[in-house]
Amino acid sequence: MKIVVVGGGSTYTPELIDGMARLRTELPVDEIVLVDPAEDRRELLAAVSRRMLRKLDHPARVSTTADPAQAADGAAAVLLQLRVGGQAARARDERWPLDCGCVGQETTGAGGLAKALRTVPVVTEIADTVRDVNPDAWIVDFTNPVGIVTRALLQEGHRAVGLCNVAIGLQRYFAELLGTEPGRVELDHVGLNHLTWERRVLLDGEDVLPGLLAGHGDAIAARIGLPVALLRELGVVPSYYLRYFYLHDQVVREQRGTGSRAEEVAAMEKQLLEMYADPTIDSKPDLLAGRGGAHYSDAAVALMASLLGDRRDVQVANVRNSGTLPFLPDDAVIEVPSTIGADGATPLPVASVPPLFTGLIGAVTAYEHLALEAAVHGGADRVRAALLAHPLVGQWDLAESLTERLLAENRRYLSWA
Ligand code: G6P
Ligand code: MN
Repeated sequence: MKIVVVGGGSTYTPELIDGMARLRTELPVDEIVLVDPAEDRRELLAAVSRRMLRKLDHPARVSTTADPAQAADGAAAVLLQLRVGGQAARARDERWPLDCGCVGQETTGAGGLAKALRTVPVVTEIADTVRDVNPDAWIVDFTNPVGIVTRALLQEGHRAVGLCNVAIGLQRYFAELLGTEPGRVELDHVGLNHLTWERRVLLDGEDVLPGLLAGHGDAIAARIGLPVALLRELGVVPSYYLRYFYLHDQVVREQRGTGSRAEEVAAMEKQLLEMYADPTIDSKPDLLAGRGGAHYSDAAVALMASLLGDRRDVQVANVRNSGTLPFLPDDAVIEVPSTIGADGATPLPVASVPPLFTGLIGAVTAYEHLALEAAVHGGADRVRAALLAHPLVGQWDLAESLTERLLAENRRYLSWA
């Protein structure tokens, strides 16, 4: 089985290789192709990947190319983990919105819109190329903003599923708190990518969330950066991205006083690249666990194994709504537990969602729709409309000034600007 990784020169690649090696019985990979425009990076990551696989006696071959078409030939799945503009573009997304009093974040708010505008055209072009060569290949999208990018792919009729590690991260964390293996823990996880709530945590089918909040509330709250009172009062565990909504002004104050996450990540990446260049390094460095994408490989391998092996198990995925959340349009992309098989990801029915969450989900879905329109068709007016619809922006003067800043910071990536 051949797996292609687009953005294979990413420092995350050893995370993925580690997952594929550990879970080889789930996913019998014998060929991995790292696709990346940067030759030095793809060769560096290929070399450390080969050492890791050799050490674990894994038979897969690793090759490299800059050409997605060449890579896609004969591939079972193509995993997208690229980042247009690298950490430098992310660092800007995390800074300029602060000048307007808005949160600076790589996937939420105005920074997330900038990322969507840079990314959607690149990803859809790669997906078109893959489909021309190999219409049967599955496209698994880990490229952010996953909700908007997946929506772009599905709108163009691609065989695509969106992937995020927030749900699997929480499932593993709750299992740890419960002192049990993750396989016994299921989440009632609902919302959009990076806008989700765990409403129930099922241990062998029984909801144990009230007990977890009573016994471990402080630890859970600290992990996601929200007040324990909020968790207990709502009776849910929001993803840590809800911090940018529920504590918006506090986050802005914090962000103004510190360096950006992109700068932190860039420093880690520098160290990681030095390690990967060391011929004695043949396993995943512990440093990678400090990245937000921890457990990404477990989620990616499980998703590909079920798509390619028609396992029909339940995993949280980013899928077309198709009536699952009746208050959203059918073509919205939602993040919910889904049955994963050879026909793709099919969302399971979702229990009725209360207004406390439907309001925010509905508003962000409308924003995502408008963001995609702006990414596909361009135009400052479309960018302003998306920002006006975003619940963290919403005001005309803000939409105007953020649009100006967004365009000034990203012109080199936007063919229409
Ligand atoms: C989580 C999210 C990813 C995101 C990452 C950021 O894992 O699910 O979508 O890319 O955090 O982590 P970083 O280490 O880059 O801040
Ligand atoms: Mn994510």
